Amino acid sequence: MADKLLMRALAGETLDVPPAWMMRQAGRYLPEYKATRAQAGDFLSLCYTPDLAAEVTLQPIRRFGFDAAILFADILLVPQALGADLWFVTGEGPRLSPLTDRAGIDGLRSADAVHDTLNPIYETVRILARELPSDVALIGFAGAPWTVATYMIAGRGTPDQAPAHALKDSDRDAFDALMARITEATIEYLSAQIDAGAEVVKVFDSWAGSLKGNDFARYAVDPAKRIIAALKARHPGVPVIAFPREAGQGYVGFARETGADCVAIDNSVTPEWAAEHVQRDGCVQGNLAPGHMVTGGQALVDEVRHIREAFRRGPHVFNLGHGITPDADPDNVSLMLETLRETRGAQE
Ligand code: CP3
Repeated sequence: MADKLLMRALAGETLDVPPAWMMRQAGRYLPEYKATRAQAGDFLSLCYTPDLAAEVTLQPIRRFGFDAAILFADILLVPQALGADLWFVTGEGPRLSPLTDRAGIDGLRSADAVHDTLNPIYETVRILARELPSDVALIGFAGAPWTVATYMIAGRGTPDQAPAHALKDSDRDAFDALMARITEATIEYLSAQIDAGAEVVKVFDSWAGSLKGNDFARYAVDPAKRIIAALKARHPGVPVIAFPREAGQGYVGFARETGADCVAIDNSVTPEWAAEHVQRDGCVQGNLAPGHMVTGGQALVDEVRHIREAFRRGPHVFNLGHGITPDADPDNVSLMLETLRETRGAQE
């Protein structure tokens, strides 16, 4: 395990060629994913059928040879395990029963009850820990409390997270109670993934960028810090990747303040800026714009080289700045990896 490239980069080693994986690497841009999803019937059945969830997790590893596999599941399984109804509307996205008041929040299940629903996910992790090639690291994940709360409060994805901001600003006690419940559930969920064989965990705060001023410290930094401290106490040595997406200046110091071993960055910041201001504290993951997986060509090659060059003086995990999209061309993923892994001599 010690020589897996991902583990070495997360431990702070500067490598000649960084390890690489992609957010949403198992997904609808792959025909084999669509076939397995059809076999499962729908997305949630795929998540809760361990053999099939493990199969789609392995598909991009077989096809492309990534250095890491990310468990196939979804951040919205935690709200479901806390008692929310969850369903996916094709072409539109997730729907949940919305949480509008304190009574709804107080009626959620307790954090240690989440395993009742999430046990199949741990079984997927156990299958993957057995079946992954020995040089590929296994990443577990969960949503960060703020991002999960935005979906739970609105009952769906929102462009500006307005319903969550409104509850936060109108009934802070209720909002804080919800954040605390999600934080505890997330600790239990990630801890169980690690017990089942996840070697790394990642916390996705996709909507961190909408938290401004003190709210960023209180609802992005503090929950991450609590989750990471609890995990480090229970599982010393298991690295954590934090992704406070679109945090901008908030990326600076995020690893130091939360204890994260690696900060994943989106592509709204340049790799030079991130190398100077974020990589000084440790490993950085990112940050190719996902659009290159659609458009490909010389622009893709140039940008992969640019990112690799910008981060080469410190620990780096190569990834996209956000998830790959369904219209991406798998050949562009291959081109990305070939370009990243070409020898430095050929590159210069
Ligand atoms: O990265 C991976 O390959 C692991 C699996 C994974 C999924 N979702 C599978 C998925 C991970 C890590 C996630 C995280 C996730 N889910 C986030 C945080 C990361 C981000 O993208 O910002 C969020 C916000 C969600 C919630 C969610 N799940 C939405 C908004 C949607 C609908 C959007 C869409 O692409 O259709 C999903 C569905 C979903 N989760 C799909 C996949 C592969 C597509 C479902 C399908 O097959 O139809």
